[in-house]
Amino acid sequence: MNTLKVTFTSSIGRKLVMACTGLFLIVFLLEHLYGNLLLYFNDQGVAFNDYSHSAVHNIIIRVIEIFLFAAILIHVFTAVQLTAQNSKARPVKYQASSTSGGASWFSRNMGITGSFVLFFIIGHLYQFFLPYRITGLPAGVKLADMVKDAFQNPLYAGLYIIGVTFLAFHLSHALRSAIHTLGFNNKSYESFWEMASRGFAVFIWLGFSSFPVLFYFGIAGSTLK
Ligand code: HEM
Repeated sequence: MNTLKVTFTSSIGRKLVMACTGLFLIVFLLEHLYGNLLLYFNDQGVAFNDYSHSAVHNIIIRVIEIFLFAAILIHVFTAVQLTAQNSKARPVKYQASSTSGGASWFSRNMGITGSFVLFFIIGHLYQFFLPYRITGLPAGVKLADMVKDAFQNPLYAGLYIIGVTFLAFHLSHALRSAIHTLGFNNKSYESFWEMASRGFAVFIWLGFSSFPVLFYFGIAGSTLK
């Protein structure tokens, strides 16, 4: 028990927690993107609505959802602990902090990009999760119609793209960092993981940004209310 406590309060233990929760969140992002892509079927939102409905009524998905919320909370909580631990260990900032050891701005500011992602997640849950799962959708309105409606609002569409952009900034370093933390990286694969991390960030950015853009300009969603 004591060993477990020491492991998870040590710097490396916390890094491991960040890597595991972060990778879990990455898997969720892919699943979420797949679900959203169903909106592009010209079927009046049937595939997307069925998918969302079956997810809510599937006990396995409900359990995974609890893990998902826990992963977000643990990831954020551990991020705060690591940041506090790091600034305690180094109370005076490096002078050349804009170029510290060649590390990119994104790798040194995961807390900043992560904080924007957190605001985005809260706003997103408020916009969709709350009415769909807790307070209820207005009568006769389906989730797909609600998505179209939200993305046709320029303010929401713009904020969504900004949120996804910060998510991509976060991811551009995250995947590589997690692989490194878990010890799967070595010198010869370093540039591969750096490219893979950036490529993944671009893929997620293009995938999620496509929704506000295509719905806003009326390219997608013509069969929805
Ligand atoms: C979908 C959302 C998110 C995903 C997929 C994600 C993913 C990741 C991954 C994979 C890492 C690398 C872990 C490692 O270094 O081993 C990471 C690091 C980090 N994340 Fe996130 N994250 C997300 C949201 C957040 C949020 C909301 C915060 C809020 C503060 C945050 C703060 C951080 C910080 C500070 C680090 C760097 C930790 C360190 O190495 O010192 N992340 N994230």
